[in-house]
Amino acid sequence: MRILVLGGTAFLSHAVAADAVRRGHEVVCAARGTSGNVPEGATLVKVDRHAPDGLAPLAGIDFDAVVDVATMSYPWVREALRVLGTRARHWTFVSSINVYADAVTAGQNEDAALHEPAESGASALERIEHPHLYGAIKVACENAVRAALDERALIVRSGLIVGPGDVSDRFGYWPARISRGGRVAVPDVPEQPTQVLDVRDLAAWIVGAGEQGIAGTYNGVGPSLPFGNLLDLIVKTVGAPDTDLVPVSEEHLDRAGVQVWRGPKSLPLWVPPEDRGFMAHDHTRAVAAGLTHRPIEDVVRDVLAHERRLGLDREREAGLTPAEEAELLRKPGGEPR
Ligand SMILES: NC(=O)c1ccc[n+]([C@@H]2O[C@H](COP(=O)([O-])OP(=O)(O)OC[C@H]3O[C@@H](n4cnc5c(N)ncnc54)[C@H](OP(=O)(O)O)[C@@H]3O)[C@@H](O)[C@H]2O)c1
Repeated sequence: MRILVLGGTAFLSHAVAADAVRRGHEVVCAARGTSGNVPEGATLVKVDRHAPDGLAPLAGIDFDAVVDVATMSYPWVREALRVLGTRARHWTFVSSINVYADAVTAGQNEDAALHEPAESGASALERIEHPHLYGAIKVACENAVRAALDERALIVRSGLIVGPGDVSDRFGYWPARISRGGRVAVPDVPEQPTQVLDVRDLAAWIVGAGEQGIAGTYNGVGPSLPFGNLLDLIVKTVGAPDTDLVPVSEEHLDRAGVQVWRGPKSLPLWVPPEDRGFMAHDHTRAVAAGLTHRPIEDVVRDVLAHERRLGLDREREAGLTPAEEAELLRKPGGEPR
């Protein structure tokens, strides 16, 4: 088939293009080309979705499948549908579990209540300042895609995507840190759900769905695992022999200024109580529709290999520096498990 990836130069969209090339499809990627290269075997058509009529180079071309990863812009999605919608046999829009209004309840499926749609675009800064805007814009995008494509549309509400190529440094912090051993500060929330999905598994499902014409709205998430079990599994898989996980209470982490989830001085994947259901979504429908997951041990090994290629001593986007961790563990509040 001829597949168009709106993107293709970064993480998920790159993995989608690579998977489609591997399966022998004709792959066109449309991006500015500033985030990276498209996979070997794919063609880059340079477009800028910020520009008026930015998708003009693609107008009039028929595609068997289109994959749009527009992160946070309703106008981008609406414009793509206008230019390409009627000529596409199948359309995948990559959405997010951030569409759900309730982030506390675990086990929600695709019928759960959503944020009110926001038909706008937003900058990265606005996204940080207005946490619900991301989900609200995704809701509006989903609605537009369904309205235009109906039975030809696949909506993937993705959870945390991990694996080679992830530049967020979130999940990679844990295999990287634990591989070095010693006393490792971990949030004392062993029961908190975590839920990650390997980028290659998600990409393979999206390409396969295009081949088979699978439509509908699905939670594209991995199996949910308590944080304590995930950390133990990482220790078993890649941990240095002297690894000692040291749980640190949430009160102590707060006092020490350690951030949740992502960013500098954070403990990645730790979420506040009001988000405890965020990594516990139901994926029954996606699995029935063909989404598969490689063993988490394989994900951990591959992520560590990727981390080593990037350099374990680099300045990270997320996690604690060795000095921050040492300082945290010097103060009272961390009890060995
Ligand atoms: N990462 C996660 O854990 C996570 C979780 C849930 C959902 N998601 C969703 O998954 C998707 C992630 O997509 P991704 O991994 O491919 O990464 P991405 O960082 O969203 O990049 C997507 C592509 O957009 C292109 N792009 C950016 N600005 C552009 C412009 N002005 N004109 C044309 N193209 C432009 C980039 O290429 P150039 O810069 O080269 O133009 C890149 O190829 C998003 O929809 C996100 O909301 C992610």
